[in-house]
Amino acid sequence: MPKVRWLSHSCFWVETGGKKLLIDPFLTGNPLAKEKPDRLHPDYILLTHGHSDHLGDGLAIAQKTGATIVAPNELAVYCGSKGATVHPMHIGGGWDFDFGRIKLTIAHHGSGGGEDGTLYLGNPCGFLIISEGKTLYHAGDTGIFYDMKLIGEMNPIDLALLPIGDNFTMGPDDAVKATELLAPRAVIPMHYDTFGLIEQDPQAFAKNAAKTGAKIVVLEIGDEYEY
Ligand code: NI
Ligand code: MN
Repeated sequence: MPKVRWLSHSCFWVETGGKKLLIDPFLTGNPLAKEKPDRLHPDYILLTHGHSDHLGDGLAIAQKTGATIVAPNELAVYCGSKGATVHPMHIGGGWDFDFGRIKLTIAHHGSGGGEDGTLYLGNPCGFLIISEGKTLYHAGDTGIFYDMKLIGEMNPIDLALLPIGDNFTMGPDDAVKATELLAPRAVIPMHYDTFGLIEQDPQAFAKNAAKTGAKIVVLEIGDEYEY
């Protein structure tokens, strides 16, 4: 069975199809992160967008390990210009990798990067990761959108990773509605408590979201979950 390990914020370590995937590796400068980027040797690094709390250590890890960065085209090209091996994709597109399929979804958000965060790095995305007969959805940073219903209908989701932090993304109430629209088997909340503007009570979210019928799994940082 595929498994995810929550490394804090929107950062997850995924093992599936015999490969190791690292999503949105914001570790350095993250007050809640326990994992050290030097210890991570992923095969792939998936980046939802260029914001520093998602791109994070992605370039440094890719440069050191040779891991392939999978990201929306503009962000992938930027990472490639810094010496990383990249696989550019874009929203709506899927690709069959050696561990399974990745498909990019929309995310309503920004994606500025560079020194001061204003460098244009294209559109943000979410990821569908389909491997071992299971479908994982990492929503990235996004507000709620009604097409979540379509995403769930066309790709029955085993595990959805949803932001609940509010301010920059969906808050808990919208994430409950997102759970209803996506109709996943299970949900893990993410993107909360890392810094002051996104403090939330994940247990309160879990209580409300469980009414949709999904299993809500509140992980401690470092915990694993098989899906
Ligand atoms: Ni962001
Ligand atoms: Mn963010």
